[in-house]
Amino acid sequence: MFNWRTTLSFTALLAPVLVYSIQPPDWPFDVTSITAPDESITAKFVSLGATMTELWVKDKNGDSRDVIIGYDNETMLLTDPAHPMFNPIVGRYAGRIKNGTFSIPVTKDPQPSGPNVFHTSLNDMNGLDTLHGGTVGWDRRNWTIVQRTRSSVTYKHVDTADEGFPGVVTAYVTHEVSSGGFLKTSVRATATAETPIMITQHVYWNLDAFQDGVSDVLGHQLKVDGSRVIQLDSISVPTGEFVNVASTPFDFRKGKLIGGPDWNNTLNLCGAGCQGFDHCWVYDDSHGGRPKTTLKGQKSGIKLEIFTDQAATQIFTAYWLILLNMPRKRAHGGPALTYPAWAAVALEQQGYADAINNPEWGVNQIYGPKRPYIWSTTYKLSTA
Ligand SMILES: *[C@@H]1O[C@H](CO)[C@@H](O)[C@H](O)[C@H]1NC(C)=O
Ligand SMILES: *[C@@H]1O[C@H](CO)[C@@H](O)[C@H](O)[C@H]1NC(C)=O
Ligand SMILES: *[C@@H]1O[C@H](CO)[C@@H](O)[C@H](O)[C@H]1NC(C)=O
Ligand SMILES: *[C@@H]1O[C@H](CO)[C@@H](O)[C@H](O)[C@H]1NC(C)=O
Repeated sequence: MFNWRTTLSFTALLAPVLVYSIQPPDWPFDVTSITAPDESITAKFVSLGATMTELWVKDKNGDSRDVIIGYDNETMLLTDPAHPMFNPIVGRYAGRIKNGTFSIPVTKDPQPSGPNVFHTSLNDMNGLDTLHGGTVGWDRRNWTIVQRTRSSVTYKHVDTADEGFPGVVTAYVTHEVSSGGFLKTSVRATATAETPIMITQHVYWNLDAFQDGVSDVLGHQLKVDGSRVIQLDSISVPTGEFVNVASTPFDFRKGKLIGGPDWNNTLNLCGAGCQGFDHCWVYDDSHGGRPKTTLKGQKSGIKLEIFTDQAATQIFTAYWLILLNMPRKRAHGGPALTYPAWAAVALEQQGYADAINNPEWGVNQIYGPKRPYIWSTTYKLSTA
C-alpha cells in the first residue's frame, strides 16, 4: 500500500535523513536461492527484510518467468527514498496506524490517556500516521539466517522496540518451496510485553512478467473471496466502517479483470488523482481449503492461488510507479525500460487494517508472553 502523494512527501521528508543515517553497506547483499525438488519454482531472498528478490516459475510455453517486480540492485531496498516495499516481510505492524497512536487495551479515543498509550514513528502522510512499522521497519532490518537447505531458508529478527512499540519481539520467518509450484512463507513471533503485531509479506505480482508487450496487470484476472472492504478516510486511514462490495468496483468475488469495465470508476479511490486500489478486503472465510485470492496472467497463462490463515488482504495496484521512472529488472526489459503505473499488484495477506484503533470490530491484535503471533501463507503457481 502506498499513496503517490505520500511518496512525494515521504521522499521530501526523509531523503536527507536516510542519506545521513543509513549508509549502504560496502559489501554485497547476501542472496539465498531455493529451488523445489521438481524445479517448478525457484525463489531468491536477501537477509535485509527477509525479502524475496526474484520468483521464477514456468509459463504455459515452459519458459521461466520472474513474476515479481523489484530491483536488480539490492542496495536499493535499503536506500530508495520512494521505499515501495518490494517483497519484504513487513512489521511489527503492517499498514497504517492512525496518528501513530494506540493504547492497550485498545480504544476508539483518538487522544487516549493512561499508562499504556504508545506513539510510533509518524513516517507517512506528512506525519499523520505510522506506515509499515515506522521509519525503519522490519523490511529495512538485516535479519539473520538461522537455517538453510536447498529448498528453504529461515531468518530471525529481534525488534528492540525502537519505533515506539512496547516490548521486544523476536520473529522467525521461513520461506520454503516445494514440488508442484508451491511457495510457503510462515512467521512466528513472541513478545516480552503486550504489543500489537501484524505482519504481511508485501509481494508485488506481475504474472505476465512483461512478455509479449504487456507491461501492466490491467489484463490480469483477479478473484477475491471478500464481500467487505474497510472504509478509508481522506488519508487512507480506516474509519471503522465497512463498504459492502456489491455493485462497486471492489467486487472481485466472481473474478474479473483488474482493468475491467468499472476500472474507470476507480479514479481517486487510492488518493486524489490515483486510479486503482489500495484497500483492505476482509475475507469471508466460508470455505476452508480453497484459495482466498486467485490471480491469472493474460498472456503467460500463469495462475497464482493464495491460501492463508489471515483474515484480510490489502490489495494495492501500484499507481504511483507512474511518477518514479524506476528501471525494470533485466528480466523485465530493464534497465532501459521502466515500471509504469499498475506494473504489478501487491496482494498483502494480513489482519484487519488498524484494528488497534477500532475496538468495535472485536479483533484482538495484541500479542505478548502468553500469546505468540503466527502467520502463514501458501502461494501455488501453475499454468491454467
Ligand atoms: C546482512 O547480513 C548478512 C550476513 O551476516 C551479510 O552477508 C549481509 O551483507 C548483510 N546485509 C546488509 C544489507 O547489511
Ligand atoms: C546500487 O545502488 C546503490 C545505491 O543507490 C549505488 O550506490 C550503487 O552504485 C548501485 N550499484 C550498481 C551496480 O548500480
Ligand atoms: C495525535 O497524537 C498527538 C500525540 O502524539 C496528540 O497530541 C494529537 O492531539 C493527536 N491528533 C489527533 C487528531 O487526535
Ligand atoms: C475509460 O476512460 C478512458 C479515458 O478517459 C476511455 O478511453 C475508455 O474508453 C474508458 N473505458 C471504459 C470501459 O469506459
